[in-house]
Amino acid sequence: MLTIRPYRPEDEEQVIQLWHDCCLVVPQNNPARDIQLKLQMQPEGFLVGVIDSQIVASVMAGYEGHRGWLNYLAVSPTLQRQSIGRQMVEAAIAHLEQMGCPKINLQIRASNTKVIEFYKRLGFTIDEVISMGKRL
Ligand SMILES: CC(C)(COP(=O)(O)OP(=O)(O)OC[C@H]1O[C@@H](n2cnc3c(N)ncnc32)[C@H](O)[C@@H]1OP(=O)(O)O)[C@@H](O)C(=O)NCCC(=O)NCCS
Repeated sequence: MLTIRPYRPEDEEQVIQLWHDCCLVVPQNNPARDIQLKLQMQPEGFLVGVIDSQIVASVMAGYEGHRGWLNYLAVSPTLQRQSIGRQMVEAAIAHLEQMGCPKINLQIRASNTKVIEFYKRLGFTIDEVISMGKRL
């Protein structure tokens, strides 16, 4: 039985392992630092999925007053394709809607196009935009 709840500090090791298992950790991101930053900004939007006391899923949701964003969506590889990802995104959407967020944006790495179909199944569509970024 999946329980979805806000992240707690004692989850850190399991969450970072989950992100490694899901290939979400890349050289330019420090996962422990990303967690610390999120805990300073809308920490209630950082959700984990738990089965039998084990962290099996995560998602970070945030709203900046115009758009809601999702990051670090992950489901343990051995538990994928069992609707856990859908439940995590639905929980994140509920959280963003409750803050009055009118639209969600998300970015998919160019090397991870297989996840496009997942988001389409959840009602997301491809926006005709170019995503740009600048490190601060
Ligand atoms: C993306 C991810 C979170 C999906 O989680 P999941 O628990 O396997 O997804 P679900 O079982 O909830 O699937 C929901 C729907 O998407 C479909 N789906 C999921 N993964 C899919 C895939 N790779 N290709 C096609 N369809 C897919 C399911 O069949 C299901 O469709 P249905 O509801 O019509 O039956 C998971 O694959 C993952 O952790 N991937 C690695 C990390 C990652 O890429 N994160 C996203 C970064 S942008």
